[in-house]
Amino acid sequence: MRAIVYSKYGPPEVAKLMAVPKPLPKDNEVLVKVYSSTVNRTDSGFRSAEYFISRFWTGLLRPKYQILGCEFAGIIEEIGQHVTTFKKGDKVFGFNDKTCGGHGEYLTIAETDAVINMPDNLSYDEAAPLTEGAHYALVDIRAAKVEPGQNVLVYGATGAIGSAAVQLLKHFGAIVTAVCNTKNVGLVKSLGADTVIDYQTQDFTKTEDKFDFIFDAVGKSSFGQCKPLLTKKGIYISTELGKMERIYFLH
Ligand SMILES: NC(=O)c1ccc[n+]([C@@H]2O[C@H](COP(=O)([O-])OP(=O)(O)OC[C@H]3O[C@@H](n4cnc5c(N)ncnc54)[C@H](OP(=O)(O)O)[C@@H]3O)[C@@H](O)[C@H]2O)c1
Repeated sequence: MRAIVYSKYGPPEVAKLMAVPKPLPKDNEVLVKVYSSTVNRTDSGFRSAEYFISRFWTGLLRPKYQILGCEFAGIIEEIGQHVTTFKKGDKVFGFNDKTCGGHGEYLTIAETDAVINMPDNLSYDEAAPLTEGAHYALVDIRAAKVEPGQNVLVYGATGAIGSAAVQLLKHFGAIVTAVCNTKNVGLVKSLGADTVIDYQTQDFTKTEDKFDFIFDAVGKSSFGQCKPLLTKKGIYISTELGKMERIYFLH
């Protein structure tokens, strides 16, 4: 099969189109023919190893898994002999930031990993980009242990992570204040935000409200700037790791 392969860390040019063996599904895996994938922040972060810490997962000296593409949508072409939840021909989409593979014509994934049937009303191109932002939003919402009725501020509510965070927080019963630019106020309201602050006309740090959780989904704020807005036990999380990956160690 054809795939975009990166055998060393570096700029986008290290990724090359080449012919590689088609993967074979293990007994608990499905073989997906990939119809759509994305190049997202996770893929480019793994490729560049811009944050050294990512090498602990992707390989210290060189990439262990050399085909990127953590988001995918496609059709199941084969199933391992112990697979029970999927059948050949199922349209599926999913997220795999361990072995990736979406930048190849085929990938394998365990049926118990993050892969699921596609809703009928979505195309492959619509389904593939849904998962990465939602993955990070959910991880951070779980880390903050958000409870129903808590006051949460999402800074950068229009990005992949932020827009998923607004919807997930509403699903978990939080009261959501979302910060975005003027052109996206309507969009963010349609995602369910209770209050919207337009950062082009209003400084969100001047709000009188206090928050149990401030989630900076675009890494444009600082803990110092947001601390006065937090309740006594309030939690601040930013998706940008910062200098020396310090946000990771603050988690
Ligand atoms: N920690 C990790 O492992 C990890 C993984 C993936 C991503 N990330 C980081 O998470 C961040 C978001 O990723 P993403 O994929 O969600 O990005 P994205 O989809 O590209 O969204 C970026 C959003 O940022 C908003 N924005 C830009 N400048 C802003 C500002 N000054 N104030 C408020 N909003 C602003 C833009 O919205 P407007 O047009 O409305 O301004 C845009 O919607 C990135 O910084 C990325 O590096 C971290």
